[in-house]
Amino acid sequence: MLEKFWEQEAKKLKWFKGWNKVLDWNKPYAKWFVGGKINASYQCLDVHVENGLENKIAIYWENELGEKKEISYKKLYDDVNKFASGLKKLGVKKGDVVILYMPMIPQAVISMLACARIGAIHSVVFSAFSYKSLKDRINDTKAKFLITADYALRRGKNIDLKFVVDLAVHNTTVEKVVLVKRTDKGITLNEGIDVLYQDLIDNAQDFCEPEKLDSNHPLFVLYTSGTTGKPKGIVHSTGGYLTYVNSTFKQAFGDLKNEIYWCTGDIGWITGHSYIVYAPLMQGTSIVIYEGTPDYPDTSIWWKIIQDYKVSVFYTSPTAIRMLRKISSDTIKDFDLSSLKVLGSVGEVINPDVWEWFFEHVGNKKCPIIDTWWQTETGGFMLAPKISYKISELKPGSATYPLDQIDADIVDENGKSVALGEKGFLVIKKPWPGLTQGIWGDKKRYEEIYWSRFKNYYPGDYAIKDTQGYFWLLGRSDETLNISGHRIGTSEIENAAILNSNVAEAAVAAIPDKIRGQNFCLFVVLNNKSEDEELLKKEIIQTLKTEIGSLAKPAKIYFVESLPKTRSGKIMRRLLSALLRKETIGDVSTLQDANSVEKIKLVIR
Ligand code: WTA
Repeated sequence: MLEKFWEQEAKKLKWFKGWNKVLDWNKPYAKWFVGGKINASYQCLDVHVENGLENKIAIYWENELGEKKEISYKKLYDDVNKFASGLKKLGVKKGDVVILYMPMIPQAVISMLACARIGAIHSVVFSAFSYKSLKDRINDTKAKFLITADYALRRGKNIDLKFVVDLAVHNTTVEKVVLVKRTDKGITLNEGIDVLYQDLIDNAQDFCEPEKLDSNHPLFVLYTSGTTGKPKGIVHSTGGYLTYVNSTFKQAFGDLKNEIYWCTGDIGWITGHSYIVYAPLMQGTSIVIYEGTPDYPDTSIWWKIIQDYKVSVFYTSPTAIRMLRKISSDTIKDFDLSSLKVLGSVGEVINPDVWEWFFEHVGNKKCPIIDTWWQTETGGFMLAPKISYKISELKPGSATYPLDQIDADIVDENGKSVALGEKGFLVIKKPWPGLTQGIWGDKKRYEEIYWSRFKNYYPGDYAIKDTQGYFWLLGRSDETLNISGHRIGTSEIENAAILNSNVAEAAVAAIPDKIRGQNFCLFVVLNNKSEDEELLKKEIIQTLKTEIGSLAKPAKIYFVESLPKTRSGKIMRRLLSALLRKETIGDVSTLQDANSVEKIKLVIR
């Protein structure tokens, strides 16, 4: 049944050669459509050009300055072909890793598809990550090529990406940097390293034959945070992944061939990969890409985008909705949002009252909200309402049920299914074609993190199933935070903080945040008592920014004498969070230093 179903789904794509085995399941590694040959770029472009969709708009792009571009499928096809030829000429070969550090511009999509066309493995790094984070990812993948742009726009500022890249590539494996120049402003190119995107395109051939790739050839590596300090390079296949995102996109959102679809995510995250680029383009959808935040140049800009482009499917995150509700509930009624048919949410649990606001004020009570639970590792949606459900079947805050052939369960510590209504760990019991192929260069870690705790796939989320079988996600069950829908590990932040020479020890305590969902405070033990505490706090914030990026900004820093730890030395982060929320704390006599708690209480006050 499982194999039959996925075989039917795979047949909806165009394969150069069929498979001889649907699934080779060597737990925890799944190989799908073994022997089949396919190409992601061909699937997203050539298929449509061959079917007479040349003039159809693939991308409507706009930025915060109001600059616009419309790119047809033929134009996208031409650009991808040229850039793919250019990359080949530069020396990029099948199987090479190419890092992308780019803003939300059409060239970012072109770069992903051009890599896919020649069988290079793209690894997109979110453009707000620091040079250190970028360097870590270069070092982990040993990439020889990097594509970037001179700057990114962020709330009226030009963020100098080239500067970050220059720092990051120094003393690494990177040999060539391709630069998209967005202005005429002079820029110093590093001789022998930097190449202009435009020069590559101008001197390239018009057509680049798409590589006939093995179904299990890696399409991309995408880094995500986990419980340990080091981010994990999640690897995805080509054939299985494409089949999965194509199928789940249709199950959840329906047939979007004739719709205008806007996903507000960034290509630096999995949402951008699966549901801005691959699934929508495979369907021949017209997508909107807006390079900008909801609050700039004014607080109604997103409603204006929906109105101007007649967006019919709008997929965003709870954190964005909470922000929009705060900044623009007065002005939303001035915009015509009647084109909207379907709404979607991703990244974290959508609070029922936020769901209601989204439903009423954005969707005018006529659009279903597709709340999609999934992860970087799952490739595509796992739990989500299907477009075929009635609105009355949705429950605000629940991702409803697993999609087709996804076998989800909720278990206790011992892996036994819990009763309905009881909280437990979410697990997935059967393989699916979107399952990651593992962690780049670290088999053991993949097996340990996801497969050692239970005999099934363990995503690291708590959940409850109600008496009607609806799934309710309850947040992470591991030491990761979810800030604005972005995962970040507590130890990742702590490891970065102690790189500041004044910091002896650091602990992250999660706190609820009205807009970002979650945020954190940092508890710091200093090496030496500081003369100027405010200055030191600023320095620590800067350290975090340099080491990780702007995502890792604490709401508050507290200097404390010691951290509460168990006798085995484990930092009690949950206790710190409870102290911040002024909750009564149970017995702390088992702590290494029971007095630490009283002292911390004083500092917090
Ligand atoms: C959380 C993002 C509740 C969850 C696609 C998961 C969600 C992690 C939802 C993955 C949702 C994502 N409801 N929680 N609809 N969507 N999450 O890898 O904790 O960046 O494990 O993938 O985000 O984050 P990631």
